[in-house]
Amino acid sequence: MGDYSAEDFTATWAAHDLGEVVVSAKEVHDRVLELGRQITHDYANNPPLLVCVLKGAINFMSDLMRSIELPVEVDFMAVSSYGAATKTSGVVRIVKDLDVDLLNRDVLIVEDVVDSGLTLNYLRQYLGARSPRSLEVCALLLKEGEQRVEQSLKYVGFVIPADFVVGYGLDVNERYRNLDAIYTFTGEV
Ligand code: IMP
Ligand code: MG
Repeated sequence: MGDYSAEDFTATWAAHDLGEVVVSAKEVHDRVLELGRQITHDYANNPPLLVCVLKGAINFMSDLMRSIELPVEVDFMAVSSYGAATKTSGVVRIVKDLDVDLLNRDVLIVEDVVDSGLTLNYLRQYLGARSPRSLEVCALLLKEGEQRVEQSLKYVGFVIPADFVVGYGLDVNERYRNLDAIYTFTGEV
């Protein structure tokens, strides 16, 4: 992870399109360790299969899996939701499916952000149909007041305002994923 002493310094190539820091690199780091401890405790007898939802959850997955002190397994899915760049349509296309079997596994979906909840709702049904023993969600961010689909999220990193955000895996047009902090996006889409 990045250099926390530099958390208030925004990369010059990005500064121009970024607003305020919504979650600093240090806050992300500390919270991911807490989530890891919680998951380690809750899944002590049944190490989970972590399912990373590409691409937005890559940074989160990478840090979270290293903060869990259990023999976890990991796999990846890629989904793409149709619609305008900063709003989801709820129609989800599976771009890359899982490699492993979910039968009787304790599956933990690792997501970057839950906004309308439509993407997650779709994923839950899609993966739930493969008979996992349990299916839970660990979302780094939950947007306030945006959920059109009721979600029960076992783990949430931060509840944030409904603004569009980038950084720490989150993108706009594939950019800004490599920032260590999470910022509001103020540029043109
Ligand atoms: P939902 O289906 O509305 O919950 O949207 C979920 C997906 O939309 C997330 O997995 C992200 O990929 C994307 N998304 C939603 N809000 C943001 C944001 O603020 N920044 C970047 N991507 C977002
Ligand atoms: Mg996502």
